[in-house]
Amino acid sequence: MTKTQRVHPLQRPAARGEPAVAAAAPPTGQYPRIRLRRNRADAWTRRLVAERRLSVDDLIWPVFVHDEAAAREPIGSMPGIFRHSIPALVEAAGEAAALGIPALALFPVVPAALKSPAGDEACRADNLCNRAIRAIKQAVPGIGIICDVALDPYTSHGHDGLLRDGRILNDETIEVLCRQALAEAEAGVDVIAPSDMMDGRIGRIRDALDTAGYQHVRILSYAAKYASYFYGPFRDAIGSGSSLGQGDKRTYQMDPANGEEALRECALDVAEGADMLMIKPGMPYLDVLWRVKEAFGLPTFAYQVSGEYAMLKAAAERGWLDGERIVEETLLGFKRAGADAILTYSALDVARRLKAG
Ligand code: PBG
Repeated sequence: MTKTQRVHPLQRPAARGEPAVAAAAPPTGQYPRIRLRRNRADAWTRRLVAERRLSVDDLIWPVFVHDEAAAREPIGSMPGIFRHSIPALVEAAGEAAALGIPALALFPVVPAALKSPAGDEACRADNLCNRAIRAIKQAVPGIGIICDVALDPYTSHGHDGLLRDGRILNDETIEVLCRQALAEAEAGVDVIAPSDMMDGRIGRIRDALDTAGYQHVRILSYAAKYASYFYGPFRDAIGSGSSLGQGDKRTYQMDPANGEEALRECALDVAEGADMLMIKPGMPYLDVLWRVKEAFGLPTFAYQVSGEYAMLKAAAERGWLDGERIVEETLLGFKRAGADAILTYSALDVARRLKAG
């Protein structure tokens, strides 16, 4: 070894009297050798190392349809969101499809006169929801249509099931839901989303669809849907809130305290034949989303519900939050927590911005 060759102190034994070099050397696996900021230093590295990305393929747009003349009627507690007439909805669906949004989730605003204790209107072949499905399918065949199967838009008491002596009936309600599902399938719906959180829905609806020749119709289970106060603006939008009054849905929707139970709910729905799972609401339930995706590996969607939309929008309108950036941050949060897609009322706005780049 020549004099000019340098040997790193760590590679030779310490000379006598020399302090232990190991102690003086920078610790391995730690700062200051390791600096995570290096990968964040420039926009181009940040792009290269980004673990998740939001794309238009992740978006499902929930929309409201009403039977009024007004093409677009604003919803007070959901600024920027409208109840559409069928022609206006067809136009909106066309715009969503042009932006690349894969699917809509369709919710009908049923006139009070058509609501009844048993929600019979739900099963009528020519009801508002089914007419809207047909109109969209005809004009914009490429966009997927997801529809709830649940009675709450149709019942005069605002509950999702049949009511007798103050109790919500589980099994009797399934019969009605199967008929509702068949009517929607007949109208051309692509995905049935049983949303009442009662027992035994998925298997029975799957059988009813299969028996009638609708094997191709998918089932998106609202597998873990919580009894949440975040649904308030949605209930304003479809008018089920006033029907429900002081009532709540705690005998069928889940207790926000429970996570383990969400896994049991999902396990049952997976076994009964669900094609996809949904967690709802979104932001306060990211832990549930993560656990469900980890446990089952099924396509798993998060629903950023009406109250989440309203909350973000209200703060943005006051200038307290940056409305665009905050929404994208929340959607990326869903992706990070395992969501394959997100139902969000902001879908159209986000798709427009993604397109603009
Ligand atoms: C109906 C249904 C609800 C929502 C979707 N489907 C409301 C409820 O369960 O009361 C809420 C969606 C939202 O708040 O955006 N079962």
